[in-house]
Amino acid sequence: MTAAVLSGMRPTGRLHLGNYFGALKNWVALQEKYTCHYFVADFHALTTAYESPGDVKSNVEEMVLDFLAAGIDPARTTLFVQSLVPTHAEAHLLFSMITPIPWLERTPSYKEMIENLADRDLRTYGFLGYPVLQCVDIMLYHPKYVPVGVDQVAHIEFCRELVRRFNHLYDVDLPQPEPLLTETPKVPGLDGRKMSKSYGNAIELFAPKEEARKRFMSIKTDSTPVAEPKTPETCNVFALLSLFCDDAERKDWDRRYRAGGLSYAESKKALVEKYEAAIGPLRAKRDELAKDRAGIWKILREGSDRALDISSKHLKEIRKAIGLTY
Ligand code: ADP
Ligand code: TRP
Repeated sequence: MTAAVLSGMRPTGRLHLGNYFGALKNWVALQEKYTCHYFVADFHALTTAYESPGDVKSNVEEMVLDFLAAGIDPARTTLFVQSLVPTHAEAHLLFSMITPIPWLERTPSYKEMIENLADRDLRTYGFLGYPVLQCVDIMLYHPKYVPVGVDQVAHIEFCRELVRRFNHLYDVDLPQPEPLLTETPKVPGLDGRKMSKSYGNAIELFAPKEEARKRFMSIKTDSTPVAEPKTPETCNVFALLSLFCDDAERKDWDRRYRAGGLSYAESKKALVEKYEAAIGPLRAKRDELAKDRAGIWKILREGSDRALDISSKHLKEIRKAIGLTY
C-alpha cells in the first residue's frame, strides 16, 4: 500500500487562487502517488463562526464543488466531512487531556486571529483547542505528508510536538507527520500581502470571467514608464502571471520585464487570458457538478463512512496506549 496523505480546509467561503496554488493543486497531483484523504473541516469553521453557523451547510457544498472541479477524484481519494466522522471528536477529547494550555496560548495563529477577528469573541475553549483538533485530524490517518500552505506549518509543528508528548507519556511510537509545501506556499494577493479571505485581496478560484478580469486589472503597480526596464521580483502582476506559466514562459516574461518597452496593462491582459485558459474549463465542470447537490452528499457520506473505518483503527490504538482497553 502506498503512503498516506491527509489535509483539510475550513468551509468559510469560496476558495481563492492562494488556496489553489498553495494547497489544492498539490492535493490533486498527490492522488497519482499516494493514498489521499481530504476533508472539509466544518468543526474548525465553527471555532470562529459559532455565533452564525447558518450557512455552514452551503459552505460545505460550495467547497466540495471547488475540490471536485479542481480534480479531486472521490473514486480514488477518501473525501469526507469532519463532523460526519465521530472518531475526530473522541480523539480530540483524549488528546486534550495531555495538551498543556501554555502550548496553545503561544500558537502564533491564536493571538493573530483574536486580533484580526476583533468583531468576534474568540476567547472560547473550542477556539483555544483548534490545534489539538487539527492534530487528531492528522493522527487518525497516519499520513506521511500533510500538504498545506506556509501559514499552516506552525500547526503541523504543534502536532509533532503533541505526538512526541503522547509517545513519551504512553511509551508508544505514533508517527510524526510532515508538512508538504508547493513551490508557491505564499501566493500574494492584489495588494502584495498574502492572499487571504480576511484581507479582501483575494481572487476567487472560480470567479466569473468578467469579475476576475476587473480584479486583475485593479492590481496596484509602480509608476515606471512603459519604455523603462521593470523588476519582475517586486511586481505582483508577474508573481500571479507566473502561477499560470511553465518555466520557459516565465523566463520569457522575466526577459521582457527587464528589457523595457512592456506596459503593465499588457502583462495584466496576459494574466487574464492565462487565468481563463487554465480555469475556464474547470469552471464549466463546476457548473455541471453544481446541478446535483444530492450527488455531492452521496459522495461525502460514502467518503465519511470510509474515513470512519480507517480512523476507527487508529483511534483504537490511541485508546489502547492510554489503557482504555475495555
Ligand atoms: P484564508 O487565509 O484565505 O482564510 P485558509 O486559512 O482557509 O485561507 O487556507 C486553506 C489552505 O490554503 C491552507 O492550507 C493554507 O495554508 C492555504 N493558503 C491560504 N492562503 C494561501 C496563500 N496566499 N498562499 C498559499 N497558500 C495559501
Ligand atoms: N487549519 C487548516 C486551515 O485553516 C484546516 C485543517 C483542519 C487542516 N484540520 C487539518 C489542515 C488537518 C491539515 C490537516 O487551512
